[in-house]
This record gives sequence, structure tokens and C-alpha cells, in this order.
Amino acid sequence: MRIAMTGTTGMLGQVLCPLLSRHHDIQPLPIDRLDITSLEDTRWQIAQARPDWVVHVAAFTQVDEAETKPLEAYRINAVGTRNVAIAAQEAGAGVVYFSTDYVFNGRKKEPYREWDAPNPINHYGQSKLAGEIYVQTLCPKHLIIRTSWLFGPGGINFVEKILQRAAQNQRIQVVDDQRGSPTFTLDLADMTLKLLERGSQGIYHVTNLGSCTWHEFAREIVSRRNLETTVVPVNSSAFSAPAVRPEYSVLDNYMLKCEGIPLLPPWQDAVARYLRSTGDGPR
Ligand SMILES: NC(=O)c1ccc[n+]([C@@H]2O[C@H](COP(=O)([O-])OP(=O)(O)OC[C@H]3O[C@@H](n4cnc5c(N)ncnc54)[C@H](OP(=O)(O)O)[C@@H]3O)[C@@H](O)[C@H]2O)c1
Repeated sequence: MRIAMTGTTGMLGQVLCPLLSRHHDIQPLPIDRLDITSLEDTRWQIAQARPDWVVHVAAFTQVDEAETKPLEAYRINAVGTRNVAIAAQEAGAGVVYFSTDYVFNGRKKEPYREWDAPNPINHYGQSKLAGEIYVQTLCPKHLIIRTSWLFGPGGINFVEKILQRAAQNQRIQVVDDQRGSPTFTLDLADMTLKLLERGSQGIYHVTNLGSCTWHEFAREIVSRRNLETTVVPVNSSAFSAPAVRPEYSVLDNYMLKCEGIPLLPPWQDAVARYLRSTGDGPR
């Protein structure tokens, strides 16, 4: 397949682009080649690439910053994605779009299925949902992958932030009133390749198996590294972050189950593999 790809320099893009390149003909479109906020440039670059699929990873991903710079978040996540959807459709290509657990309001008490009604409670979630709607309405051939709490090589992620804080402090406070599913970019990349090669379309939830709070996630990281740091659970009100986040955003990978596709490994296993890959893994 010929695949054009945005967001190749981001956390997921840095892992997904080389993986796809090993199996398919990839045309990377990093931001210095294509700023997706320009419809004209997006049309031109995607037409030149003549892709079968556009794997659209580029996004504005800073959840708190989206509250203070909403225009920028909507310009990239909503308008930019609209531009990609228009250009892909005109080029006869499909779009793979990555979306988020933050399209849900978090009031459900059991994992969200692909068909549950989204109702985002912050600008990041709203702008990503707008992107989903543009992809669904403007480009009939599409695959929307909702994922959550990404960590992986090549970016400042939650695991690295916790390790940095734990190295400097005997006690760290971590939020314990939000529950979700940490997801390793390598596992997500593998599943993306699999879904693409199966010709899957529609919405899929793809996360590592199981769920935890940020506090439980942090405790797992600290204990796997045998660090002495105490991880103290606190309510999110202790941090007064600009963006309100869903209390519960676990995604049921229900479409994968329906189709008998093996689910991703448990998140604890993914954390262990990530820590091993960074050179000083669990002992
Ligand atoms: N991170 C998470 O926990 C998480 C959770 C759920 C869903 N997702 C979704 O998964 C996808 C990948 O996330 P990620 O964490 O890998 O994102 P990321 O590390 O923030 O990377 C985003 C990429 O988009 C590029 N970009 C930003 N504005 C652009 C523009 N106007 N034109 C072209 N490219 C632009 C960035 O380029 P520069 O870096 O050069 O600016 C970067 O390569 C996103 O769609 C995100 O919404 C992420």
C-alpha cells in the first residue's frame, strides 16, 4: 500500500512511521513539509503522494494548553483534520484518524464501547471529536482508532515524568480519581498495521488491557524500578489543572473482541517492556 502520514515526528508517529515503512511504501509528511491547517497545502501534498491511505497522526495534544489556547486546538484537531479528510477523499484515499478516550464525559461506570455517545468535557476532547465527525462525514473510507494514556519512546511521557519526579523526591503526589488504560505506542502501532492490512473501517477502541488510576500507574512504575519513593494518592482538585478530565475513560476494545482479533497485552506488561527498552528495566 502507498501511505501518506502526518505527525511522523510525534510520540506515536516516531514508532508507527518506521513500522509501516517496513511493510509499505510510506510518504512521511512532517510539519516542515505539511502544515495541515492549510487546506491548499494539504490538498497539494496528498495529491502528490497518491496514497491508498492517509495515516493522520498530527494533532494538538496538550490537554491543559487547549483550555488556554482553544483556537489553536480547534485549528489543528478540527480544521486540520477536516483538511486531511477533504484531501484524502479527493485523492481517492482513506483516512486513519487517531482519537481519544477524552471524547467521553467519564460518567459511565463500565468501559466505553465504540457506539457509546461521546460528550467531551474539555476543549481537547471537543476538538478531537470534531475531527472524528469531519473524517466520518467527508471521507467515506475511514478508520478511527480511539486510544488513551499513551507512553512510548521519543517523547516526554507519563512514565518518564514519574521517574524524573521520583528521582528528585521521597514523596510524590499523583491523582487517584481518574481511571483509564495506559497504552504503549509500540503495541498501538502493531494493532494499527494489523487493522490497516485487514482493511478494517469504522471506529475501533485500541488500548492495552486493564485499567488503573494515574496513582496506580505511577506506583507500578516506581515499584518496577525498585525506587524508594512513596506515591501518595490525591484528588485532582489538589493540582487545579486548567482542563477538567473524565473520571472514568476506560475503553472497551469491543470491536476487536467482536472480530476475534487478539487484544493488546495488559498495561503492566507494556510498562515492563517499555522500562526494559529504556535500558534499566525491572529487576
Ligand atoms: N498522547 C496521548 O496520551 C494520546 C491519547 C489519546 C489519543 N491520542 C492521539 O494520538 C495521536 C498521536 O498522539 P501523540 O501523543 O503521538 O502526539 P504528539 O507527540 O503531540 O505529536 C503530534 C504531532 O503532530 C504534529 N503537528 C502539530 N501541529 C501540526 C500541524 N499544524 N501540521 C502538521 N503537523 C502538526 C507535531 O509536529 P511537531 O512536534 O513538530 O510540532 C507532532 O509530530 C494524536 O491524534 C492524539 O490526539 C494521544
